[in-house]
Amino acid sequence: VEQPEFDLRNYIRNIPDFPKPGILFHDISPLLRNADAWQVATGRLARVIAPWQPDILAGIESRGFLTAAPLAQRLGCGFVMLRKPGKLPGETVSLDYGLEYGHDTLQIQVDAIKPGQRVVILDDLLATGGTLAASVQLLRNVGAEVVGCSVMIELTGLHGRDKLDIPLHSLIHYEF
Ligand code: PRP
Ligand code: MG
Repeated sequence: VEQPEFDLRNYIRNIPDFPKPGILFHDISPLLRNADAWQVATGRLARVIAPWQPDILAGIESRGFLTAAPLAQRLGCGFVMLRKPGKLPGETVSLDYGLEYGHDTLQIQVDAIKPGQRVVILDDLLATGGTLAASVQLLRNVGAEVVGCSVMIELTGLHGRDKLDIPLHSLIHYEF
């Protein structure tokens, strides 16, 4: 049941100076531990993602798994993991991407996606957009048709959305 009056922001705890001074951390733990709020959040995500008609939901390690796995089950999709380096067995494909300071890598199993499968990517948060943009590229490199992506929280002030050439949905947004 849709509950438009239900404000999910009430279940995000904003913690200053974590993990570093000057960073405001948007903690989703209160949302995860409240059964009603989590039902509302996952219900809203399902209603947005279902019309994209994905075959596969791809979750970005680690908090992207929290939404991708239950939503895949609910929508009748497969679930695929995009992981940090060295975690996935067998043959993998990697993509290295730049961060504000330094770089990071995501990996996927080479046979995770059948050619042309429709994939929606999920993560907890969109900040600069580097992680999601790299995930889109990595999935394309293994033959996916990436049809959309969804995050719980978007930080609009960092304009990460501009790095994406596919539809992006966010449940909650803050400027920073
Ligand atoms: C955080 C968050 C997103 C990413 C967003 O992950 O979970 O995945 O940053 O940032 P971006 O839009 O600027 O790329 P992080 O790399 O901190 O690792 P974690 O998820 O393992 O905590
Ligand atoms: Mg992350």
